[in-house]
Amino acid sequence: MQMPDGLPAEIDLSRPSAARVYDYFLGGAHNFEIDRQLAEQIASMTPNLAGTMRAGREFLRRAVRALLDAGIDQFLDIGSGIPTVGNVHEVAQSANPKARVVYVDIDPVAVAHSRELLAGNDLTAVIHADLREPGRILAESREPGLLDFNRPLGILLAGVVHFIPDADRPGDILATLRSAAAPGSHLVISHSTYEDQPQEMLDAQRLSARTDTEITLRSRAEITSFFGDWTILEPGVVHMPLWRPDSPSDVDDKPEQFGAFGGVARYDRPAG
Ligand SMILES: C[S@@+](CC[C@H](N)C(=O)[O-])C[C@H]1O[C@@H](n2cnc3c(N)ncnc32)[C@H](O)[C@@H]1O
Repeated sequence: MQMPDGLPAEIDLSRPSAARVYDYFLGGAHNFEIDRQLAEQIASMTPNLAGTMRAGREFLRRAVRALLDAGIDQFLDIGSGIPTVGNVHEVAQSANPKARVVYVDIDPVAVAHSRELLAGNDLTAVIHADLREPGRILAESREPGLLDFNRPLGILLAGVVHFIPDADRPGDILATLRSAAAPGSHLVISHSTYEDQPQEMLDAQRLSARTDTEITLRSRAEITSFFGDWTILEPGVVHMPLWRPDSPSDVDDKPEQFGAFGGVARYDRPAG
């Protein structure tokens, strides 16, 4: 098959990709027919899903702003996706032009487009890696000029941990990432859940098995456990629209319909 210009040859265009399906839902241009077909199929089963993805992006934007307000000026965004409107570096650098962002994604299309978009932005970098290799991600993001793990940083895991099945021990992956961070660091997680969801939403999630990455829905308690002993900030691990909305009128009648919890925690220096 002829590869579109500028894309790496290892991309499998015969299978839909989670990153490109997500890009389509957000109105981006970095997707192919195979991705659009799956996206339309999912959307016809759950008209809510495009809204869910937008709600996820909005949660991430609000969380990044909260971290900036707390003085965080360096971000490790794992499962960053294809750059679409309102990227983390845009939000961060509009508040602090010196903010650094390292993007990490498993999807070669997301990585190729991120590199293209960020060419010339010296305060950002893109790593092609799998969240299941946290040691490699940490080593590469410590390279000179990238992140300083002796200072507080923001670790962003928005809509990605649900791609890690229990067999791959997501709790251990999270523990590795947390243990590398300095006190004052923050962890942001949004994660799909089966709690409070109608059957049609659960059916649509099963379609994710057709992308390279199947989703594992988890309970609020399981998602909360990923923050370890860090201090969970108000209002806790909640349905995404309920996490510090810009205005009460932004919160839909049924915030649970978006099918994912979001939360932010801070690593407080251990006493003693
Ligand atoms: C739903 S998108 C979320 C994008 C962005 N974080 C956001 O919230 O807007 C999930 C992204 O995670 C990436 N992903 C899935 N499994 C991954 C893994 N094991 N390691 C790294 N990235 C992964 C996908 O390629 C996709 O780009």
